[in-house]
Formats: sequence, C-alpha cells, structure tokens
Amino acid sequence: MEESTPGDAETTSAISKVDMGDLAADRTEHRIAAVDRTDDEVILRWSDTRLSRLHAVWLRDNCPCAQCRHLQALERTYKFIDHATPRIAAAGLDASGDLMIRFESSEGPHESGYSTGWLRRHCPSLAGRTERSPKPNLWTATEIRDLPMVDFADYMTSDAGLQAWAEALFSWGIVLMRNAPAESGKLLQIARHAGPIRPTNFGDHYDVVSMPNPNASAYTAMALDLHTDLANWRWPPDFQLLFCVRNDAAGGGSVLADGLKVAEDLRREDPDAFGLLTEHPVEFRFHDQTCDIAASAPTIALGSAGNIERIRFNNWLRGTMSLPEDLMAPFYDALGKFWLRLRDPRYHLNLRLAAGEMLAYDNRRVLHGREAFDPNTGQRHLQGCYITADDVLSRLRLLDR
Ligand code: OGA
Ligand code: ZN
Ligand code: ZN
Repeated sequence: MEESTPGDAETTSAISKVDMGDLAADRTEHRIAAVDRTDDEVILRWSDTRLSRLHAVWLRDNCPCAQCRHLQALERTYKFIDHATPRIAAAGLDASGDLMIRFESSEGPHESGYSTGWLRRHCPSLAGRTERSPKPNLWTATEIRDLPMVDFADYMTSDAGLQAWAEALFSWGIVLMRNAPAESGKLLQIARHAGPIRPTNFGDHYDVVSMPNPNASAYTAMALDLHTDLANWRWPPDFQLLFCVRNDAAGGGSVLADGLKVAEDLRREDPDAFGLLTEHPVEFRFHDQTCDIAASAPTIALGSAGNIERIRFNNWLRGTMSLPEDLMAPFYDALGKFWLRLRDPRYHLNLRLAAGEMLAYDNRRVLHGREAFDPNTGQRHLQGCYITADDVLSRLRLLDR
C-alpha cells in the first residue's frame, strides 16, 4: 500500500482508487429473501431460512459510507456515543439484493447500504456466530497419523502452499515441511515468508545442539519432557519453527502432543483438577548471565467462552509455587494428573526429523519434547525460531481477498 497523508487533496484522489478489498462485497451464495422492520431492528429472512435480527444501533454503527468511515484509512470515524439513538424509518433491498436503510433521529436522516455478503458474514444469530467460531481439530496419536505435510517448494512459491501450511497450523496446531535444502539459516527464510520473526532472549533464532556450559536444557543431549516454550514470558510465542539441519546421532526422536486434547479430556474426566489448573497461576523463570525473565500464569488459560486459549507447561522453567497452604497438596495433585496424561503414549506423535525437514507447531496448544541423543555417535543440529499468529492470520486474510 502507498503511504498517504490523510487530508492532502492530491494524495486523497490518488489513494481513493486503491482498493483495500476489506470493503469489497464478501462472497455468499445466500440471498436475502425478505426484510421486516420495527423501530429498533431489521429482520432478514435468508434464502436458506436463516434469520438475522439486526439492531438499529449496530447497523448505524457499521454504516460504511464516506461520512462514517475514513475513505483512505478505511477506519470508523462515526462515534455512536455522540449521536441520538436512531430509529429505522425504512428498510428494503436495492436492485442487486443489498440492504438499504433510512435512519431517523433527532439529528436528521441518514441513509446506509450493506452488502449481502457482509451481512451474512456478520450475522449475529447463534447459528452465524457458531459458524464463524474457530474449530480446531483435536488429536491423539490416531488422528495425527496423517500428519499435515507441505513441500518446501510449494510453500515458498505458491499461495496455495503457504495457505495449506498456515491452515494446518491453525486447525491441527502442527505441520511438517519437507524437502527444504538442509542449510543453516534456511529456517529464517522459511519463517519470514509467513511473518516477521519474534525475537527472544535466545536471539532471533537459536541453534539446538549439545554444547559445553549450556544455559538451557535444550542445549544438552538430555531427553526433554513434553513442554511449551518460553512459559516464563507473559506472552509466550505463538508458533515455534524447528528446522533440522542434521540429525545423524543415535536417539533424538521428537515427541509431540496436542495439549488442547489432553486438557479437554481432563476437563471432562476430572473437572476439579481441571478447575485448579485454570484458576491458580504458576511461577516460571529463566535466568542466565544476561537476563532474568519471569511470569506467573495458569497452566490452562481460558477465554471468555470457557474455551482453552493457552497451555503453559514447562517443568524446568517452573519456579517456586506460591499458593495458600491448603491448596498446595490438591494443586500438586492436579498438576501431576495433567502431567501423567501428557505422558500417555496414546496422545503422542513420534517422529524423527530428517535433514531438510521443519516442524511448525502452535506453542499455545501443542507440547513438544525429544528423546535423549548420543552426541558421540553423530551430529544433531536443529535451528529454531518463533513467529506470531496475528502475522500469519494477516497473510491468510490477504490471500483470501
Ligand atoms: C526446543 C526444544 C526439541 C528438540 O529447542 O525448544 O524443545 O528436539 N527442542 O531438540
Ligand atoms: Zn454513514
Ligand atoms: Zn522446547
């Protein structure tokens, strides 16, 4: 997009031709079959019998006209708080089947038009909201046997490849990329194709190798229990990318589990333990010579609808529990129950990364770990980095336009 200076007449006329696409008609195969109205709402009856009840204030608030939205920035300028409550004075369909409304208020009339696709996409009915809510595929070892895979070349050179990769990451929480050149640094090229790198105290990327004087468990040859990364940050990274440059030492297989599935099973089978893990924060801390980063948050973070938003589990970064005395025993019990479940092989995806392969997984949901390896038998060299879900979603939305 070109840079613009809002208000500059010359720029304005040039920019007004730029089509951001977000206001273009959303696609829908449905049509509005009938329009009814009262003073404060419009009722749409759709060709598939869906009913949309659209409140006057909501409609007025979403008027897309040039008076109500900034033409170039495409952002809302209308402030409902500054206006008298509008009344629906007229509502009907225009020649292309879109909804036209005349509002009346003490401040005078206002006319607004809404495209059929936009109305369908924003239908506030329960059916509409349910349709739009994200539906992750929860998995155990059985469901993930067909691990989503994308070829490096498809990902780098085609929109469909990038889209398939990102969609798998959002729905399954994991995707394997294959056939990349097994070169150090390739990771960054792959990551930046999906979104900017999120740097951490380990740099913009890090080399997972067994090293002398390691500052983290990952930089040893030890086995790593299932964990989420950077649990000691208030906002741990969303997606982790782990690229295999070389893997010919004995051992070192990867293990992954869908924490969302494990936690949902716990919620159903042991609601008390689940409740404790959502209610009580756990301390986490990482410190070395150059940093000391600590955070406190529950093992299972819930969203406003009771949905699981994030799993935070990392035993070596876990700090000292700070809980009321009487909660200590039940809390350790609940955390132990979750951990025991995580160890159950029926939840495990086991694989061995080969040179030129890259795993990407949702660190908010999928836990990862590895078997110990023997650095005397060969070399194991992975490179890792993180990216942010908002950036990947933005790429997906742009591809969707
Ligand atoms: C990590 C990690 C796993 C591995 O670097 O965060 O957990 O397979 N590595 O070495
Ligand atoms: Zn308007
Ligand atoms: Zn890790």
